[in-house]
Amino acid sequence: MPDSKAAISYGETKTEAPVLSGSIGPSVIDIRSLYAQTGCFTYDPGFTSTAACKSTITYIDGDKGELLYRGYPIDQLADKSNYLEVCYLLLYGELPTQAQLKDFEQRVTRHTMIHDQMQYFFRGFRRDAHPMAVMCGVVGALSAFYHDSTDINDPVQREIASIRLIAKMPTIAAMAYKYSIGQPFIYPKNELSYAENFLHMCFATPCEEYKVNPIFAHAMDVIFTLHADHEQNASTSTVRLSGSSGANPFACIAAGVACLWGPAHGGANEAALNMLREIGTPDRVPEYVAKAKDKNSGFRLMGFGHRVYKNYDPRAKVMQQVAKDVLAQLGASDNPILQVAQDLEKVALSDPYFIEKKLYPNVDFYSGIILNAIGFPTSMFTAIFALARTVGWIAQWKEMIEDKDQKIGRPRQLYIGAPQRDYVDLKARG
Ligand code: SDX
Repeated sequence: MPDSKAAISYGETKTEAPVLSGSIGPSVIDIRSLYAQTGCFTYDPGFTSTAACKSTITYIDGDKGELLYRGYPIDQLADKSNYLEVCYLLLYGELPTQAQLKDFEQRVTRHTMIHDQMQYFFRGFRRDAHPMAVMCGVVGALSAFYHDSTDINDPVQREIASIRLIAKMPTIAAMAYKYSIGQPFIYPKNELSYAENFLHMCFATPCEEYKVNPIFAHAMDVIFTLHADHEQNASTSTVRLSGSSGANPFACIAAGVACLWGPAHGGANEAALNMLREIGTPDRVPEYVAKAKDKNSGFRLMGFGHRVYKNYDPRAKVMQQVAKDVLAQLGASDNPILQVAQDLEKVALSDPYFIEKKLYPNVDFYSGIILNAIGFPTSMFTAIFALARTVGWIAQWKEMIEDKDQKIGRPRQLYIGAPQRDYVDLKARG
């Protein structure tokens, strides 16, 4: 029910639009009848002032730097929960009982293998293909193998597809990594936890027993939790828009993978570590901060700034602590890259340019330091982000499909091209 109304007047037209309020956060002006009433569209290319849907999954307060998954603060979940429990929470809306969690873990574990025929997709790629190129291809190909979970109108099939995607993304990401380094694929092991299994599939070889480092497994699980969902970001909006046409969930998640790859989005973790390596030593930090402030340089501090957070990204705070813990446990607290990151953060956060524009470190600023310490190449960082975000994508996709108001997404435009004109024969064009 609308809470109040917004008066809209344009030319001779005076009309009203209902204002709808959520449980927390900004209200929305419901402009669904605006075009019919005024003959005008709204104009918001980056969707900076547009709510595209109703949702109960994730809430962000950018000014306060708060992130809630189904109402639970991200720092509490990172500290007290684990990734599969967070997957259950995001998918079903409540924290599971012990029995529900055990059943969910078993269902995910039973779906971690991919169809054996799919290994041949990998062999079609060059060995030096970027893992995200492989992820785009192989995740989309899941549609060709799991027909029994592509009917989006069947809630049972929607749930099986969700479980399959959560379960198989680590296997696909690990296979992309193994393929890139010319090592044989390692099968999932059912007795391992989700994070342990991913690390085992990445770093074990058939030649000897591989013991997963518990420090790395815990860090990996926290990284998965921090990346699990994030409201209506670019890749989630891509998944929702793809799903609004009735496309199957595997194809929609492949679209999300493609969008996440961009350096302005999930590709920033790879770009951020490459930037920290390029800076190399703390004494070069001022030079790069100056470059980031120079509009003509085209350079931005990767891992800095955010469309929504105009305060510290709460995930970056947790990530910074995990980076310090992992490096300390490795006896590498003096890691120069961490030093450069901390100096860069200190200099930037005291500089008027970053203060005025409210630019703070985001989730991608420290994650690469941890992944690098665990042994991943930078090319795998975004694939790991995609793996972790799959539960958020599929939870948002499911919410959209089950929303009775949902219809195919079809934005309009402000046309600034040529008005109608007649065709000119080639001969007449000289
Ligand atoms: C993710 O949406 C999500 O929730 C995404 C994400 C998720 O979990 O899904 O949080 C994950 O994508 C995090 C963001 C990762 N990207 C980066 O770290 C790339 C570097 N950051 C930016 O390119 C930028 O900050 C964005 C893309 C993140 C946000 O861009 P906006 O909101 O469109 O802001 P903008 O580009 O309009 O910048 C506003 C101003 C500009 O200056 P003016 O034109 O106003 O003078 O701030 C400047 C920008 O030039 N600016 C930066 C900067 N980011 C913005 N200047 C230097 N370095 C930067 N990093």
